[in-house]
Amino acid sequence: MKLLPTLAALVTVGLAFPVIDNLDADAHQKAGQLAARTLKILEEENFQPVRRSALPLPEDALGISRAETNCGPTIPCPYFDAKDQYVSVEGEYAYAAPAPDEIRGPCPGLNAAANHGYLPRSGTATIEETVRGLNKLYNLGVELGAVLAAYAIVIDGDLAGGSWSIGGPQQSDPLTPFFGNGQGLSYSHNSYEGDGSIGRLDAFTNNGDAHSLSIEKFESVYKTGGDDTSENGFDQRFTIDKFRAQYQEVQKHSIATNPYYFTGAFSTVVVVPAAYNFVINFMSNHSEEEPSGYLDGYNFKQFFGVTGKPGSFVWHKGQERIPENWYKRPTISPYGLADVAADVGIGYLAYPETLRFGGNTGTVNSFTGVAVEDLTGGVLNAKTLFEGDNFACFIFVLLQQGIPHFLKGPLDAINSATSFFDPFLTPILGKLECPELGNFDQSLFNQFPGYKYSPTGPATNY
Ligand code: HEM
Ligand SMILES: *[C@@H]1O[C@H](CO)[C@@H](O)[C@H](O)[C@H]1NC(C)=O
Repeated sequence: MKLLPTLAALVTVGLAFPVIDNLDADAHQKAGQLAARTLKILEEENFQPVRRSALPLPEDALGISRAETNCGPTIPCPYFDAKDQYVSVEGEYAYAAPAPDEIRGPCPGLNAAANHGYLPRSGTATIEETVRGLNKLYNLGVELGAVLAAYAIVIDGDLAGGSWSIGGPQQSDPLTPFFGNGQGLSYSHNSYEGDGSIGRLDAFTNNGDAHSLSIEKFESVYKTGGDDTSENGFDQRFTIDKFRAQYQEVQKHSIATNPYYFTGAFSTVVVVPAAYNFVINFMSNHSEEEPSGYLDGYNFKQFFGVTGKPGSFVWHKGQERIPENWYKRPTISPYGLADVAADVGIGYLAYPETLRFGGNTGTVNSFTGVAVEDLTGGVLNAKTLFEGDNFACFIFVLLQQGIPHFLKGPLDAINSATSFFDPFLTPILGKLECPELGNFDQSLFNQFPGYKYSPTGPATNY
């Protein structure tokens, strides 16, 4: 099964790019060709098909969450193969702290990848570099890497140049102006980065900074792994179920402290809970005894750039590391889009309180919800959302429909962005059985001040 359309179909993407008066026509064509070329390369790789989401019945969900291994919800990790799973941190992959002009941001998984040269050390990457680097380092599914990078390019990257920043704003080249906002992941509040993160503070409560690690938050999540208070942390054990429970606690804390708390976009409905799951599914070490992987305090701290012991942890900005002698998930079990959808879905079914659309209305503890029925014009409700493929359909449409809402700029530029992104998404949606989901009523979110809050970054790289 091929996930992506043929090259012939893709080249037309390039040609179909509208010529726009106020932006350079060559740049548009270049972006189109770039999309076509990347998709071609991806097609040549052996794609895993998008597996059906297969969510449990709500009454089983907590048991399933508790029983889930660190290998994820769909393909097991049945054996350990040291040669396949060993990750080099030597030679071209040796650790180096970022130079002053190199960008790091809110995502420890990306920062560690860049610090070891699995992503460009500059901190800006193309789709192809993202896909190849993250697949090699983490066994991140090819189609997942492509969609996450393509979205980053259109929403806060450099569409003309075909790259995105894992941290702060990219430098603008006057010859190839951004079609996107160019603010990078660090200043992608609500469009990519969201409230209720595992280790970062909510943007509004931290002067717009949602990319720096909060030691207090790290202390809190670290405790979920047991009570090993030693410096090495070898006896801590982190699981996806403990993190799902932690997400519920963090949400409550945000509602009680952030008058601008907002959730309703792809960022908060998917990226934030998925990031909790990524710690377990990508940062775990694998061994003969535990082929499904285990995450101890040592590995957790290394990947997060943290040293010290509980009570006196220290975060070293931009110093996230891949531990020495660390073994990734096996090649036979990549973690892809279907896994993201299933894991986020299981989380909502196991901890139903965490499924929220809405926000505080300007004061703390004023959370007001928007019903799934109202958002989807009656097509789905909180129950049918989890039937069949509906949840996967819902989150990808939420992603797609968010683009025009979060992009600032002339309509032509927004159209270019959506025509760049759609070819990455269409084949995925094509593999799912989706109900007719019309336009979500995003105007329901206008009542929440946090929906429109959008801090921009300084021209520095952090
Ligand atoms: C192209 C791939 C990726 C993109 C575009 C991406 C993007 C992001 C973004 C936007 C955030 C902020 C979300 C929030 O507000 O909580 C984030 C956070 C996070 N990401 Fe990634 N990410 C990627 C891959 C990964 C990988 C491979 C890992 C694990 C190895 C990872 C682990 C995390 C974690 C743990 C956080 C939460 C950090 C914290 O709150 O302290 N990500 N990522
Ligand atoms: C990972 O597990 C292997 C055993 O397979 C062990 O030798 C190694 O020390 C562990 N690495 C880390 C970073 O914990």
